[in-house]
Amino acid sequence: MLPTLDARLAAAAELVRPGQPVADIGCDHGKLTAVLAASGRYPKVIGADLRPGPLSKARQTLEHANCQDRAELRLGDGLSVLSAGEVGSIVLAGVSAQTTWEILEKAPWVFTVGGPRIIMIPATRHSELRRWLWTHGFAFVADRPVQAAGRWYAVMAAEYTGERHEPTFSECLLGGTGSWPEGAGYAAWQKAKLPRMRLGVPDGTPLADEIDRLLKEGTGL
Ligand SMILES: C[S@@+](CC[C@H](N)C(=O)[O-])C[C@H]1O[C@@H](n2cnc3c(N)ncnc32)[C@H](O)[C@@H]1O
Repeated sequence: MLPTLDARLAAAAELVRPGQPVADIGCDHGKLTAVLAASGRYPKVIGADLRPGPLSKARQTLEHANCQDRAELRLGDGLSVLSAGEVGSIVLAGVSAQTTWEILEKAPWVFTVGGPRIIMIPATRHSELRRWLWTHGFAFVADRPVQAAGRWYAVMAAEYTGERHEPTFSECLLGGTGSWPEGAGYAAWQKAKLPRMRLGVPDGTPLADEIDRLLKEGTGL
């Protein structure tokens, strides 16, 4: 039986480039790997994880979905399981923002114009991942707010262009989420963290002014 994807993984699946190989890094339960494999839309589907335990769960999921022959499972750290140019899309879902950028930093071939699309669902620190992507030459293809299991997530897709952008605090906080109907809910959730954040910022600094402005704006809900 084909597994059901939660809203976050379903949104990530929509962002995978069709017709090109794809890798689900940190595949764990293997649900996304199985759905991608079963779709028949990709010439190669790779599921990979750092640990053998998750990989055996993924193997079981593939067997239950009867698509074990349509995906390869690989054990290893981050993108070390892939060769340069092997895939058109890389999904990094459910790991922290820091793990996400550390995994990317260890694979210089990702920083290539025309390189893979990186689809990310950071478990934490969305704003910091956005800043990292912009300041390292990535451009956003999508930044979609999604609610799953009562929590807000941002499903991001980015491609390397080499053009670096120094974003403002507000850009990092909300990214492109405002263009989605769910954007207001996401913004309210992000802005609810601001009063606590503001406590650590000295008065009179540009950051303090920006946070104060956002607080004055309210949530818009
Ligand atoms: C919380 S699970 C996320 C599973 C799935 N991607 C999702 O979003 O539902 C995180 C998985 O990432 C794996 N992981 C963490 N660091 C990794 C790394 N450096 N390389 C590959 N996998 C990693 C963990 O072993 C774990 O199975």
